[in-house]
Amino acid sequence: MMKRRKIGLVGAGQIGGTLAQLIGLKDLGDVALIDIAEGMAKGKALDLQQSFAVSGHDCVIEGGSDYGLLKGCDAVIVTAGIPRKPGMSRDDLLKINAGVIKTTALEIKKHCPNAFVIVITNPLDIMVWLMQQASGLPTTHVIGMAGVLDTGRYKTFLAQKLNVSVQSIDAFVLGGHGDTMVPMPGFTTVLGIPLNHFIDKGKITQKCVDDIIERTRNGGAEIVNLLQTGSAFYAPANSAVQMLEAYFYDQKRALPCAAHVKNAYGVKDIYVGVPCVIGAKGVEDIIELDLTEAEQAAFHRSAKAVEGLIHDLERLNI
Ligand code: APR
Repeated sequence: MMKRRKIGLVGAGQIGGTLAQLIGLKDLGDVALIDIAEGMAKGKALDLQQSFAVSGHDCVIEGGSDYGLLKGCDAVIVTAGIPRKPGMSRDDLLKINAGVIKTTALEIKKHCPNAFVIVITNPLDIMVWLMQQASGLPTTHVIGMAGVLDTGRYKTFLAQKLNVSVQSIDAFVLGGHGDTMVPMPGFTTVLGIPLNHFIDKGKITQKCVDDIIERTRNGGAEIVNLLQTGSAFYAPANSAVQMLEAYFYDQKRALPCAAHVKNAYGVKDIYVGVPCVIGAKGVEDIIELDLTEAEQAAFHRSAKAVEGLIHDLERLNI
């Protein structure tokens, strides 16, 4: 008999709520929705439970502020934290969110040390590094969500421009989330045909590809500006669910994630965005590529930014 799976969601905000809904509708398991704002976690859990009754989904969802709800979780997705507010320095944000991640890491270690943990809280690469350090969980079981989202954005813009289905596009991005992201047009294909072919045939210009890369890099900010309050949540939640499914269903799916790189791409022992294979054992492999000089330089900038943040954490005594 197969045991029902249980997924812990730490953070019941915009992404956390959307995650709970997706998990219920996809029958991925039961949900524990945890937030420091107890009423919100309880309220969303109750609303979602009633929603599942309407559509006939068996997901049992419980909400609250007690981390004890994590007991027995097979996977945990972490979105808890605060966004950067006007007047707040990067250090302030780093300090607050690092505190939240550290607390969460210790609770995960206590209640569900065998869980597969996906971190979404920003600044992502450093938060996922801290989650692994503070929880002591194996590096195969602690991973950050960014590359799938960035790739989704990149594919959206390319599909619109080329007038083809997003399903025909294969692509990925390397490096950190945000400014230091490294899109890889050299590895982008449409039906297996390299993007360069479409540039040569005049279907899309190099300038247009460059603009798409820039828009992808600023994809989060574009949505923040439009929403006025809060940041993107549908695509981030869907991206984490894809990673969760790869783990639960042992898909051995190659996905770009913020993963622990022991010694590859010229970097050692940091978390950074790389293509990895996710299956039942967590991160089962990291795919290493031969990069061009420019790609290698961009990737190193990304890795250096993460290393700088690790030093900042030490400086801030976290
Ligand atoms: N423990 C539990 N929950 C906490 C804690 C804590 N110590 N501190 C904050 N939270 C909760 C907040 O109460 C809030 O409900 O985390 C939740 C975050 O939700 P939102 O503010 O709605 O943010 P969301 O849009 O879901 O994004 C979450 O993902 O993409 C990143 O930059 C984004 O770091 C942010 C995270």
